[in-house]
Amino acid sequence: MKLLHKSGIRKKHIIIAIDGPAASGKSTTARKVAQRLGYTYIDTGAMYRSVTLKALRQGVLDEVRRFPENIADLLQEITIHFDGDTVLLDGRDVTSDIRDNRVSREVSFISSLKPVRDKLVEMQQELGRQGSVVMDGRDIGTVVFPDAELKIFLVADARERARRRYAELVAKSPEGSEYPDIDQLEEEIKRRDRDDEEREHAPLKKHPEAYEIDTSSLTIERQVDSVYSLAVDIQKRGR
Ligand code: DC
Repeated sequence: MKLLHKSGIRKKHIIIAIDGPAASGKSTTARKVAQRLGYTYIDTGAMYRSVTLKALRQGVLDEVRRFPENIADLLQEITIHFDGDTVLLDGRDVTSDIRDNRVSREVSFISSLKPVRDKLVEMQQELGRQGSVVMDGRDIGTVVFPDAELKIFLVADARERARRRYAELVAKSPEGSEYPDIDQLEEEIKRRDRDDEEREHAPLKKHPEAYEIDTSSLTIERQVDSVYSLAVDIQKRGR
């Protein structure tokens, strides 16, 4: 779809796919780029987290570990919606529950299951069908939207990513609570990288056409500016 911009240039409603490992700055960058472009931001990690939360609440994780195909029952009657930054699982607000530690520990397992990936990829393709979206995840440029007009792959070294997680957790913890251990956070991040890169279905990898941006020493503003400029160029070209 194309719109005639007030400058007289036809602007295309593009899809921006942002992939990369945990804590590489994907969601902050994606959210801000979407705001600047007036696009919709879709956090696909939140969708995998929602399925994981549902499995935990139904107490079916042990069963699914033994019989992975049984996840299909849970997927049959699931709805996941976004209302701005609010995530609704089966109509209920789960925005903060999906960030729970138990969910973070189990989400790699749940997201490695093929029926889960098939179902969520289908939902994501439907959400992005009209364009004008910024979608972040692990397989957006490779599987969900391989034809996305702009593909970005964000990376950052593991220590820097652990520092970011540490700062986030400290900012969120109530006063007087124990501080997390930064070495342990780095180990968790590396373990998740391995799980995401080595899984059989849709492993985390850079699409050959994706622009790789190393955010280790970039400010959020610089990251957002780089992605935003690339997007505006492509919109103008009406490609
Ligand atoms: O981005 P996040 O940390 O909220 O993602 C949670 C998990 O979901 C992550 O460990 C990998 C998985 N995931 C995925 O497999 N594919 C996606 N498109 C998005 C997330």
